[in-house]
Amino acid sequence: MKSEHLIDALATQGWYIWDDFLSLKQVQEIKLAIPQQLTDARIGNGEKLQENKNIRGDQTLWLEPEMGEPIALYMDKMEELRQLINRQLYLGLRDFETHYCRYPQGTFYKKHCDNFQGKGLRKVTTVLYLNEFWQSGDGGELAMFNNDDQQLATVDPIGGRLVIFMSEDFPHEVLPTKTERCSIAGWFLSQKVF
Ligand code: OGA
Ligand code: MN
Repeated sequence: MKSEHLIDALATQGWYIWDDFLSLKQVQEIKLAIPQQLTDARIGNGEKLQENKNIRGDQTLWLEPEMGEPIALYMDKMEELRQLINRQLYLGLRDFETHYCRYPQGTFYKKHCDNFQGKGLRKVTTVLYLNEFWQSGDGGELAMFNNDDQQLATVDPIGGRLVIFMSEDFPHEVLPTKTERCSIAGWFLSQKVF
């Protein structure tokens, strides 16, 4: 069972790649359901857009279950994961926030940590890939590192694949895209927010 592998891998190495987490049909349905009002991603308050674009070039949209059945289904699956991880690993995950990301051709997201020095609420990161037609040469791979800056993996952003990792422990980077690339990033949080 993939869910058992996930728990084992999170406990021992802190990250896991879950292939076919969603079917390509489910991926297509999600893409169709996503409203197209995206905004340029921001890395912090008061950033100038141009400086920001030297760090990340994606456009994002926070997701809500009300946006449609396919998105609600994705969020239900993530809620199941939250409960599973809490039952098995006692991480005390209390909430989940998630946004859709579109990387136009030629964009990237420089190496960063989703929860720098454990100071934020983000405990576990998830990234679901929506690229049904991705092939090698398209770029946009996820490069993963440990906190000693050793590269651990280069993950192809293949449709239906879910990557899960402990947010504090794995700096990561989206390599430059040669074609549009879509993903849904999510974070399990240590506190409830709204
Ligand atoms: C992020 C992120 C990775 C990806 O949004 O914080 O690192 O592969 N995304 O889309
Ligand atoms: Mn990230």
